[in-house]
Amino acid sequence: MSACLPVPATITTVRHLTGDTTLYTLSCKGNAATSAVASFLPGQFLELSLPGIGEIPVSYCGSPSPDGAIELCIRHVGHVTSPLKMALPGDAVGLRGPFGHGFPLDSYENQDLLLIAGGLGMAPLRSLLLALVEQRQRWGDVTLLYGARETGVLLFLDELLELGHRSDIRIQLSVDRPDHCLEGPPNCRVALLPALLEQLTIRPERTCAALCGPPVVYPYLVAGLQRLGLSDNRIHLSLERRMKCGLGRCGHCAVGTFLCCTDGPVFSLAQLQGIEGALA
Ligand SMILES: Cc1cc2nc3c(=O)[nH]c(=O)nc-3n(C[C@H](O)[C@H](O)[C@H](O)COP(=O)(O)OP(=O)(O)OC[C@H]3O[C@@H](n4cnc5c(N)ncnc54)[C@H](O)[C@@H]3O)c2cc1C
Ligand code: FES
Repeated sequence: MSACLPVPATITTVRHLTGDTTLYTLSCKGNAATSAVASFLPGQFLELSLPGIGEIPVSYCGSPSPDGAIELCIRHVGHVTSPLKMALPGDAVGLRGPFGHGFPLDSYENQDLLLIAGGLGMAPLRSLLLALVEQRQRWGDVTLLYGARETGVLLFLDELLELGHRSDIRIQLSVDRPDHCLEGPPNCRVALLPALLEQLTIRPERTCAALCGPPVVYPYLVAGLQRLGLSDNRIHLSLERRMKCGLGRCGHCAVGTFLCCTDGPVFSLAQLQGIEGALA
């Protein structure tokens, strides 16, 4: 089957996470092409199409599941994602993927992992976090730093609070401003995300960092990680660019000589050295 042709999938569950963000579970059982779209690495993405409306890139948000279920966390912002807010279990969508390179899980073996998510960046990093939790014995220390605008828009808070009870996973949250209606969760500071790095102790020679968040925060996070002694090849970050084909053909997603859809979206900082505007 051509990589340009979407495979049919059905929405099985819809969970509203915040006023503008929804978690969908999709099912795509059937032939080899449909099972390929459900086999992915955290950090990879797919192209989701709404019949008659359009197609958008979306990161995998769950862990690969033997029954072909796929979780996608979508913020409703525009002409494809807004009608999706009305979608119900049973509705049909199309999927193409997986695309791109995800986080290099195999190179993380025996390393301490520092995951840093900002806002909707928690969607792909949830996929990575679930993979780390599933095979917990393969890694050293696991820490998640996650920041959002305010308490009410922290995604997957229930899951994260539950994981925070484990002695082998460290979770530290931050919100840019206090929420006057909601009591802040434990382990949550009112601070900008990069400030969480200031109080962190890590072993830089055996720590790998995985980042996903709004581009504006990357330079501050990278500077904080470098201050902690992390080398550029130990920092991986996911770049979001306008994408169309997802196949390396249209050039919409160029970053220097790289194409985000085929060479990324996850890059090491070392790969991006010298590319002007790469982190913008
Ligand atoms: C690799 C990758 C993974 C992504 N993963 C997710 C995800 O897991 N969940 C999710 O909700 N979104 C994700 N996005 C962003 C998502 O693709 C866009 O929000 C979507 O394309 C908007 O489509 P639309 O037609 O609804 O909005 P449009 O009508 O096209 O635009 C509405 C607004 O969104 C902005 N916008 C549109 N596309 C993008 C984009 N690619 N990046 C930044 N701003 C954009 C526009 O500037 C405009 O302000 C991802 C994007 C990429 C490239
Ligand atoms: S989206 Fe077309 S080349 Fe990357």
